[in-house]
Amino acid sequence: MNNDSSRHAPVNGKTKVIVLIAWPADHIRTPTFFNALCAERGINAVMVPWAVRPEHLADAWNGLRFVDNLAGVVLTIPHKQTAAALCDSLEGDAALLDVVNTVRRNADGTYTGRMYDGVGFVDGLRNQGVTLDNQRALLLGAGGAATAIALALARAGVSALTIANRSPEKAQQLVQLVRQHAQHVKVEAGSADPAGHDIVINATSLGLKEGDALPCDAARIESGMVVAEAVMQPPVTPLLSAAAKRGARTHLGEHMVTAQLERFVEFLLNTEARH
Ligand SMILES: NC(=O)c1ccc[n+]([C@@H]2O[C@H](COP(=O)([O-])OP(=O)(O)OC[C@H]3O[C@@H](n4cnc5c(N)ncnc54)[C@H](OP(=O)(O)O)[C@@H]3O)[C@@H](O)[C@H]2O)c1
Repeated sequence: MNNDSSRHAPVNGKTKVIVLIAWPADHIRTPTFFNALCAERGINAVMVPWAVRPEHLADAWNGLRFVDNLAGVVLTIPHKQTAAALCDSLEGDAALLDVVNTVRRNADGTYTGRMYDGVGFVDGLRNQGVTLDNQRALLLGAGGAATAIALALARAGVSALTIANRSPEKAQQLVQLVRQHAQHVKVEAGSADPAGHDIVINATSLGLKEGDALPCDAARIESGMVVAEAVMQPPVTPLLSAAAKRGARTHLGEHMVTAQLERFVEFLLNTEARH
């Protein structure tokens, strides 16, 4: 895919609009990726970022029901849970977790929500040639992104999953959830020690802000490990820099979102049935 931001699909009266709602929105990069894909494929759709404060989400959302050329909404921090409650129906992981990141506006103005973060993360790894079969994974974090990623990793064939989180009770809750849905995987709460794992995933927010601590002890990262980020900005986080210095293979957070673009097209633009 060409991510050149100077390429745009033509926008006309038949253009389908997808709104990406975030607060704040200044760091948002997904529309650049999505619009480049549409330009490349000749798809008449455009994604625009909307900066909506949390207290105004419901008003913005209800207004969008009446926009007939709105294909759907993509949501990011801090709106994913609130938006799930505003949907008329939820499918897949969205129904399981009560969280959405992708919402289709149906022809009658109702909204159907899905959650693609987990599958996007796993697809992103696979697209980069990383195999998960029988791998031992260390997942750092137990928030929204980590929850979706944990379930997706368990379904993708990892043999063992350690979940480490600052608040240990949340790690324990996530362990119970994964056990309910993937009995074959050895899953436990543990420390943020990379040793003994094949793949280390940062799904905490550490790395977003300058001066953040590393989410794990980088001195315990070994060559041969894969170290993957959910954090997208900066593209190369201090964890990824440290992991590269240790000889590990690194994986950018943006792969998690670029792997979802195809699903946005299929679900939001109703092309699923044609495949
Ligand atoms: N690439 C993508 O497509 C994508 C998609 C979704 C999210 N993300 C990124 O993933 C990250 C997490 O997002 P989220 O939605 O899961 O957020 P969240 O639900 O608020 O969870 C935040 C997680 O980070 C941990 N954390 C926060 N501050 C910490 C600190 N100072 N020390 C240790 N742990 C800390 C939290 O631990 P506690 O439970 O102890 O609070 C929790 O596990 C964000 O950087 C977000 O940008 C990326």
